[in-house]
Amino acid sequence: MTHLPASEDKDDVSTEPAKARVLMCPPTAYALRYEINPWMSLSNTPDVALAARQWDALHHVLAEDVGASIALIPQAPDAPDMVFTANAGLTRGPFALLANFRHRERQVEEPHFRAWFEANGYKVWTLPPSCKFEGEGDALFAGEILLAGYLKRSDIAGHGRISDMFGVPVLSLELVDDRWYHLDTCCFPLTADTLVYYPGAFDPYARQVLESNFHTIEVRVEEALRFACNAVVIGNNVVLPSGCPHLTADLQARGVTVWPVELSEFLKAGGAAKCLTLFLR
Ligand code: ARG
Repeated sequence: MTHLPASEDKDDVSTEPAKARVLMCPPTAYALRYEINPWMSLSNTPDVALAARQWDALHHVLAEDVGASIALIPQAPDAPDMVFTANAGLTRGPFALLANFRHRERQVEEPHFRAWFEANGYKVWTLPPSCKFEGEGDALFAGEILLAGYLKRSDIAGHGRISDMFGVPVLSLELVDDRWYHLDTCCFPLTADTLVYYPGAFDPYARQVLESNFHTIEVRVEEALRFACNAVVIGNNVVLPSGCPHLTADLQARGVTVWPVELSEFLKAGGAAKCLTLFLR
């Protein structure tokens, strides 16, 4: 098992550099207007004023406590899920691979994210329209390896191209439970060689691939259901939704600084801390 050193300068083990940059979208038009995952119910809509306070708290932890630099994109009025910027695409250096959303309801976000990437100097890549890809929701770097989820929202057909585009090996991971419909709902790389994950979300072969490539920390089902895996890792800090005491204790025992944030109103849409942030590498 990997034990993280207490000091800040340990680029060799961190997944993200200490001075991370992320994209967030203030929830000015956040709402629940359709159901595209099992968490969303038109009979259980978010309290948008409370959602705004929870988003502010997440922004504060990331900017002030963790020291991330945060870029903002305005929310389009007709795109209630646009707050989940993790799905905008996948960035590395000057390149941004734009999302091809599975659902019509979220495809309206694509031109807004494209415009933001272009205005911010990214060269924007796309996959063929038939090849669905939901950005960092289904693609997470573990050091120089890209973990890529497929079946629920993103298509495995794109993985070869993504590997060629970014020049990295891709580990394709089949997701088998609709409740963990994006990769970032059921795993996060803590370091380049240590992965936190909920095994029940993956097919047996994906589990075997993860177990043979990483040291793993298992999340229990009750915390996986609280979106414990939907965490933002910056240096030695992990920002995750509150209500996950076991994972919090496991991480603290390894010397990680854990920042729980209450995100109940975003859980109603099937998202939490990671879904609300996109890394700008
Ligand atoms: N309601 C959104 C959807 O179903 C939530 C997206 C959560 N994002 C994530 N990266 N897991 O698409």
